[in-house]
Amino acid sequence: MKNIDSNGHVKGRSTFLDDLPVHEGTLCALAFGSPIAHGRITGAELEAARAIPGVVDIFSYADIPGDNQVGGIIPDEPLLAEQDLHYQGQPIFLIVAEDNWTARQARRLIQLRYTPLLPITDVEEAWGREEWLFRPRTFRLGDIDTAWSQCTYLFEGDAETGGQEHLYLEPQGAYVIPREHGGIKLYSATQGPTLVQRTVARVLSLPMHQVEVEVPRLGGGFGGKEDQATAWACLAALAAWRLQRPVKIALHRQDDMRMTGKRHPYRSHFRIGLSKSMKILAYEVTYLQNGGAAADLSPAILERTLFHATNSYFIPNVKATAYSCRTNLPPNTAFRGFGAPQAMFVLEAAIAQAACELGISARRIQEANLLKEGDEFPYGQRARQAHARQCWAAVEATFDIRKKEQAIKAYNHQHSYQKKGLAMMPVCFGISFTKTPMNQASALVHIYQDGSIGLSSGAVEMGQGVNTKLVQVAAMALAVHPRRIKVETTDTTRVANTSPTAASSGADLNGKAVQQACVQLRRRLTAMAALILHVSPAAIQFRAEKVWCKGQPTALDWEKLIAEAFLRRVNLSAQGHYATPMIYFDKDKEKGHPFAYHVFGAAAISATVDCIRGTYEIDEVDIIHDFGNSLNIDVDQGQVEGGVVQGIGWMTAEEVVYSPEGRLLSDSLSTYKVPDITAAPKVIDCRPLGLDGPGLAILRSKAVGEPPLMYGIGAYFALLQAIRAFNPAYVPDFKAPFTPERVLMALYQNENAEVL
Ligand code: MTE
Ligand code: HPA
Ligand code: MOS
Repeated sequence: MKNIDSNGHVKGRSTFLDDLPVHEGTLCALAFGSPIAHGRITGAELEAARAIPGVVDIFSYADIPGDNQVGGIIPDEPLLAEQDLHYQGQPIFLIVAEDNWTARQARRLIQLRYTPLLPITDVEEAWGREEWLFRPRTFRLGDIDTAWSQCTYLFEGDAETGGQEHLYLEPQGAYVIPREHGGIKLYSATQGPTLVQRTVARVLSLPMHQVEVEVPRLGGGFGGKEDQATAWACLAALAAWRLQRPVKIALHRQDDMRMTGKRHPYRSHFRIGLSKSMKILAYEVTYLQNGGAAADLSPAILERTLFHATNSYFIPNVKATAYSCRTNLPPNTAFRGFGAPQAMFVLEAAIAQAACELGISARRIQEANLLKEGDEFPYGQRARQAHARQCWAAVEATFDIRKKEQAIKAYNHQHSYQKKGLAMMPVCFGISFTKTPMNQASALVHIYQDGSIGLSSGAVEMGQGVNTKLVQVAAMALAVHPRRIKVETTDTTRVANTSPTAASSGADLNGKAVQQACVQLRRRLTAMAALILHVSPAAIQFRAEKVWCKGQPTALDWEKLIAEAFLRRVNLSAQGHYATPMIYFDKDKEKGHPFAYHVFGAAAISATVDCIRGTYEIDEVDIIHDFGNSLNIDVDQGQVEGGVVQGIGWMTAEEVVYSPEGRLLSDSLSTYKVPDITAAPKVIDCRPLGLDGPGLAILRSKAVGEPPLMYGIGAYFALLQAIRAFNPAYVPDFKAPFTPERVLMALYQNENAEVL
């Protein structure tokens, strides 16, 4: 089945927040952000801005009726700054005007008086001053202290990964309409409608039932709208509530880039110990996470970094410690992979360092340490249906990696200024929100009198195809054609108390809830059919829109059955709820069983470097991915392709640059380079592993949203291989992204400087 949105998207007919017809009298709101990264407000001149015709009002924190607080996990983030300024772009005032242009004119006229303080943007500086956003955490397995003495080889080093701008096509936004009895209706481009509802209610001092949040769909979220859509919704709600007029916020791209957080940059230190036979016996790692000015989702992201410290490998002795450091940057936030890519990069760096120093292929070390069935993760869970080795072996066999490596060797021999490299990248990603209570979902299914079906759930469609999958689940559960089913927008009055659509578990959790609702409906319809046909319910089956009795088709079809059920006063609506069983985690012991299951996969990535210019191309990405029994292989292949390209972008071209004063320098598409079609790999060949998924995956179709991003990490190491083919003396520094500038420096590092 095709993605149900593709037609509308291609024709430009899909409705996003900014496409909604606006009500008469709608105003535009615009935030005035801090011009400095650190300091204290001493006063402000607002009169000139207020005097512009069309400016309706300018609000500050003093206008907030409830809590001036939007911190989701830790209450450390004011909606509007009171006195202290912690990052450039931090919202201080909200300008409300008749139109956007007027609001922007007014923003230029606001004069802020302040005392600047010294900003910290460097994560190590923040760490040195013990500027931690919350307590550091350590995961352990085995006994690292005694393990070192058993190692034949010891290696130590540092690794660094940069931030990443989400660059969803649709910027952040919200549209708020006042309702009767003091309530509001809020359209929000959020991954987490309930989080928006709860936070807006707190800010406006309203009960949650006075705040209805509806999400039509998102033009991409990638984690950037899991937490950070909330503040914009709160701001629009504040203005609408105070003025009792509809108010819209739609961020300009540059404001979005400057004012919102990104993927967390990490700086890490590793020590790795190997046996003579290349078994990793010990791994010690310290992660410094650059959290920005407030906690946001950093505690959960830091936790996932620790969960994925050993990725797809089994290491018997592990000590992984993570610190989240407060800096004067916009609060960093969720981004596809949620801290796991940062952890996986460090371990691959450690393996590459060992391989470089030992003069062997990294592949040998990788392969010798892949997880097998029953191996224990440092957090206590054991690997089940651990397909790490199968995926790896299937990549080697399917894509004939040995032959590819020989071809690369021959190519490098023949070419002096063009070098190729190849790297393997295994992935093992845990599926479930690491915070156990978030692993629940609800759905509401209505069958209308004509047999058509309306389906609501907590899932937010952001391009990942969750709505298509939900249609498939309902169609299968009710044995009807998918055409009969419409997926409604996500709305907190139809489906309440939802988790954000995140952690790759949108289809699993909401799919199970839809399935649960459909099972109830089917039970009622089975009883009704049995009554009509004068047989016992056990004799009834549903197949392709027909009622079957004792293995034979009957004249009773779906439409007749529904019409009859309505006349006989059967309830044709059902609400389903699902909570993932078996999962738990004990944060005191740092042990438990946090994940419903793991997704496995392996990729081989090859690249060609132009050794005169430092430019490069990613030639090919060959993947064996563990989809389970994919519900929709087209949608899932799309997720793999998008994830891979996004991962490669993070590792190569995308460089988030702040000045030492905390000003974002890469604040537009001319200074922030995302992969375009020429930067994308020429070939992405992804084949399914072909093994069944676990029962906790919806219809045994494994979650797919985030894991493929991490195949992109292989791009860094493929480039490293190519560079070393040109400059064998190159000592890697493991600083990502490997931009062409960095590649050029690497090619001519040390004695190779004379080559040209
Ligand atoms: N794919 C598209 N097209 N757009 C997105 O915003 N977000 C990713 C992934 N794939 C995203 C996407 C992220 S970060 C997650 S967590 C999952 O989709 C969320 O959706 P799911 O849980 O339904 O897989
Ligand atoms: N993944 C993604 N988003 C989340 C998680 C998680 O594990 N926990 C809270 N939000
Ligand atoms: Mo995805 S980072 O869990 O929204």
